[in-house]
Amino acid sequence: MIMNIKILAFAMTMSITATAQTPKLSKNNIDEVLHAMTLEEKASLLIGGEYDFWSTTAVAGNSSRTVPGAAGSTIAIPRLGIPETILTDGPAGVRINPTRPETDKTFYATGFPVGSCLAATWNTELASRVGKAIGNEVKAYNCDVILGPGMNIHRNPLCGRNFEYYSEDPLLTGKIAVGYVNGVQSEGAGVSIKHFAVNSQETNRTGVDEQLSQRAAREIYLRGFEIAVRESHPWTVMSSYNRINGVFVQANYDLLTKILRDDWGFKGIVMTDWCGKREQAGLYTIDEVKAGNDLMEPGCKEQVDDIVAGVKSGKLRMEDVDKCVRRILEYIVLTPHFNGYKGNNAPDLKTHAVVSREVAEEGMVLLKNNGVLPLGAKGSLPKRVSLYGTGSYNFLSGGVGSGCVHTPYIIDLVQGLKNVGIEATADLTEIYKKYIDYAKLKFEADRSGYRWFEAPLMGDQKMPEIDITQELLKKQLKQSDMAVITISRQAGEGIDRKIDGEFNLTPQEMKMIQDVTTAYHAENKPVIVVINSGSVMETTSWSAYPDAILLAWQPGEEGGNAVADILTGKVCPSGRLSMTWPLAATDHPSTKNFPQDIDLFTYENLGAGGAPIPTRDVTKHEEDIWVGYRFFDTNRRQVAYPFGFGLSYTTFNFSAPTVKRSGDKITVSVTVKNTGSVAGKEVAQVYVAAPKGKLEKPTKELKAFGKTRTLKPGETQTLQMTLAVRDLASYDEKNSQWLADAGTYTFLVGSNVEAVKGKATLTLPQYTEKTSNALAMKK
Ligand code: BGC
Repeated sequence: MIMNIKILAFAMTMSITATAQTPKLSKNNIDEVLHAMTLEEKASLLIGGEYDFWSTTAVAGNSSRTVPGAAGSTIAIPRLGIPETILTDGPAGVRINPTRPETDKTFYATGFPVGSCLAATWNTELASRVGKAIGNEVKAYNCDVILGPGMNIHRNPLCGRNFEYYSEDPLLTGKIAVGYVNGVQSEGAGVSIKHFAVNSQETNRTGVDEQLSQRAAREIYLRGFEIAVRESHPWTVMSSYNRINGVFVQANYDLLTKILRDDWGFKGIVMTDWCGKREQAGLYTIDEVKAGNDLMEPGCKEQVDDIVAGVKSGKLRMEDVDKCVRRILEYIVLTPHFNGYKGNNAPDLKTHAVVSREVAEEGMVLLKNNGVLPLGAKGSLPKRVSLYGTGSYNFLSGGVGSGCVHTPYIIDLVQGLKNVGIEATADLTEIYKKYIDYAKLKFEADRSGYRWFEAPLMGDQKMPEIDITQELLKKQLKQSDMAVITISRQAGEGIDRKIDGEFNLTPQEMKMIQDVTTAYHAENKPVIVVINSGSVMETTSWSAYPDAILLAWQPGEEGGNAVADILTGKVCPSGRLSMTWPLAATDHPSTKNFPQDIDLFTYENLGAGGAPIPTRDVTKHEEDIWVGYRFFDTNRRQVAYPFGFGLSYTTFNFSAPTVKRSGDKITVSVTVKNTGSVAGKEVAQVYVAAPKGKLEKPTKELKAFGKTRTLKPGETQTLQMTLAVRDLASYDEKNSQWLADAGTYTFLVGSNVEAVKGKATLTLPQYTEKTSNALAMKK
């Protein structure tokens, strides 16, 4: 295939005699270059360059290409001075192959914490520093764009890719993304915000029709993308595989042109999620072009032909092709490749590891603490710990699939605790390490066929637990002052999670928690559970057992150090949940319509044109806008841990908030005081309760937030949090408009959705803003 394209490019070059007039692309001659392009050249530019995507090296890339392991590219047209540009996966770091056959040199990238951990920092400035470090690595490895951030809404805790995404709330999602995008783009590299849109499940993701109201689409699933587009101007957007209300996103004019460009003013390019030609599924290349999908990734030669034939037969207007080509040229002139940047293949991994650790430390959420933490607060640090759970040793730094990053190392709990002076018992460490080596071999041997998202370069798997016998416990108790149990979960692309054994504990894990806590508590020794999962789990059935629970997420390469810093109090926890932790998975209204029979889609049925799996071709969003806390809070449903929740080692006081309006800007101010005895950070969360109006609304919705710097005991900081009047609006689909009713709005400032500390009111006139009428549900 690559060969064919090279021949095609060569033939095209030869058939056009280069004259002195042939323009070379510059920032100022885009129209001229467009004019000089042949139809074939234009068509080739719209088709991404990783032509052998469906070979066995799939997402992991073709090692013969410029950047082995990068996900795709746009083609070069040398006669017009158009360079190739390279797209690499993320979002938790640059994803390229760590080794190359021709050299001993390694090509590792910094493994940052997964999206759910980044969002749990509630720190947009930190998100921006992550983006900056990633942008720097994108360039160092001769790439141009990182395929991230992932911004889909956590509609349900069972979505396999929730770890890559930020939150159940669109505002938090949007603001964290803005930080990330601004950071990457400040380095002169680009992003692709993905997967646009309503791609909140993995099961049959290439075929499923997500059926939802225009209101739910605009307010919940699109709003985060809208914030990112309006506030950070991403270079590219990735259109998702699924359909929305019957129409494939990748050929969805309503979404890609009416909403994205006309309503929001997006100026960059739209590229497809990785699929090639999908005619068998009923998706045609020329419809994608017409819809405003500029780039087909990874694309194939047949799609070039489709475009050429489409224009020649009059089915596709040249004008539509030109619009896409112009936008791609406008993108290309921004890129490091166009601007002559030469990467040195040696990013500053040490400096970036510091940022990774900072995010891990700020994103981890302390869920329970009966006073046992920080360790050593009431005396000296424990000297020896028994580490239970395979995750303590096989610590999962990230998820699986295209979001897996090849990190130079992963600090596990043994290493992290050792770095703060706490030794893991040697015999238990040896037992676990031997077992994990065996379990990994067994996992490889048991692989049933080839499922690309489980391939070795796609990330670490969670290993089944070993039985903790009374014998073993007795031996450990003699040596250790405390126990840490790690409960890990792996999840990833292409597969959703099950309730049994994934959302819930396995019976073996439950027994491990019960037996370890019973034995240690009998000797007055503490037990701490570390949750090593990028997604939500059930906790209610077991949270009473341990003394403390730390949600460590999948915290990137520095995870073990971050856990140790929090357990020992070097860092005061300031992570706050970016999603509700329900009592049971079935408490979410969306679970009813969430596929739970887990159709593992295989390489084969994707390769055959991505044909939909008939039994799973529709997902009804019957819960509408009632996603996450919007449902639980409004219906006063009990949860395990509410949205925004997280414990600290200190306490904070919030002053009575004030709210002021100036034109269309609203500023909420609150002074936060550290009233405890150790330094720490706090998050102020601003929820707004709207006056009763035409539309039914949640009791309150997050409309702004702010995080303090580290405040010493007694220190204060005034946070000023701004929003626009339009942010108070809900989507009135009858009139295709955003509508905020006239009346008195209550601004509730709190430390989580259930813990309101103070309020202020503001009376506003009605606000409306017309939009296009798009994405209507078919009757
Ligand atoms: C994933 C994207 C990824 C792309 C390229 C797709 O399967 O859904 O998130 O960026 O592959 O690897």
